[in-house]
Amino acid sequence: MNKLLIRNVRILDPVNAVDETGDIFIRNGSFAPPERPDNDTLVIDGSGLTAAPGLIDLHVHLRDPGQTEKEDILSGCRAAAAGGVTQLLAMPNTKPAVDSPETVRYILAKAENADAKVHVVGAITKGLGGHEATDIQALYDAGISALSDDGVPVLDTSIMVAAMKTAARPDIDIPVTAHCEDPYLAGGKVNEGAVSEALGVKGMPCAAEDAGTARELALAESYGLPVHICHVSTAVSAAMIRAAKQRGVRVTAETAPHYLMLTEEALLKRDADYRMNPPLRTEHDRQAMIEALRDGTIDAVATDHAPHTPAEKSDFVQAPNGSVGMETSFAAAYTVLVKGGILSESELIEKMSVNPARILKTYGGTLSIGTPADLMLYREEEWTVDPEKLHGKSKNTPFKGMTLAAKVKLTVYHGRVVFNDLTN
Ligand code: DOR
Repeated sequence: MNKLLIRNVRILDPVNAVDETGDIFIRNGSFAPPERPDNDTLVIDGSGLTAAPGLIDLHVHLRDPGQTEKEDILSGCRAAAAGGVTQLLAMPNTKPAVDSPETVRYILAKAENADAKVHVVGAITKGLGGHEATDIQALYDAGISALSDDGVPVLDTSIMVAAMKTAARPDIDIPVTAHCEDPYLAGGKVNEGAVSEALGVKGMPCAAEDAGTARELALAESYGLPVHICHVSTAVSAAMIRAAKQRGVRVTAETAPHYLMLTEEALLKRDADYRMNPPLRTEHDRQAMIEALRDGTIDAVATDHAPHTPAEKSDFVQAPNGSVGMETSFAAAYTVLVKGGILSESELIEKMSVNPARILKTYGGTLSIGTPADLMLYREEEWTVDPEKLHGKSKNTPFKGMTLAAKVKLTVYHGRVVFNDLTN
């Protein structure tokens, strides 16, 4: 059917300052003024549900090409749909890395039939090796939407500066997203401190992240260029970003739901599903992430969705870093931030849709008539996260067994229902 009518739904559209009950109508993949339904109209009763713009996740690892046993482009986008995510930014640490136009074109072609819009991040250095610059113009011509060496920092600072300059050119104008980490301080398994000592494993100090954040802020300030800071997890990095913003530095930042909901204490279970990079930190850092979101220091909640197989995650120390997150991000963030009285629902949608659209310079973040019809319906509902019920290929969620306070019930991407949990 070409038309979709969602009746009697609470419409939450912060960009248009709308929070009211009404009908949403979609025709040929775009929001349109409401019309009477006919035989070509799918009608959904929106009573008790809230409609918000589709979420935009600025930090996702789709593992395709090269590690499709963990995830692939289509399965990752099914996981996105189940979490209300309609656009995502796919990181370049695939195998091979996204350092050639061929790999960009491969991802974009496969994503054409996916349940979400995939934006591709091009690598700044070849093979993410940190020393040899990629051909940014060629990657851009192939269709990238951002630049990063995410997974690792750009080791050669001069290459980072060159990438920031090229990305900011008016004819390119895409964000550079920075994985902040000092390579000489990094490499531990959990946050450095009481928990790493209790476990007897090497720690990753906050200083590893903070030194990386400081470098990227210095570059942005010195050259007057924009930078986006990935997965902020420490109080010190948040404070540096806050101060930089006050000085007018062109910086934006994201944190992830696990840094809002969990601390290093979770690692005492010796379960690698709680291991990610940056690692879960202390309660002090968790509170600092919440405050940084509240006061606007951190612009966005992104997941760092990082699928790994059960076999890889079975050894606490040897397991790779990362956890899946797209199917729980809205529910977890809602639980901490909205139920916790930190943000209104509109403000949460700003962090998960409006601001990411602005940072990525993409469409979306609104339900405006005439724009592509990406939306999600949610309601307050308690549910317990069961890894086996996740739609992505990997089940390494740190939220397993947790009861969350909101649930995405339906997701529409370009006018097509790509996830429907309304009967449950
Ligand atoms: O935990 C992480 N996992 N952090 C990263 O930076 C990379 C990611 C991955 O690709 O697994």
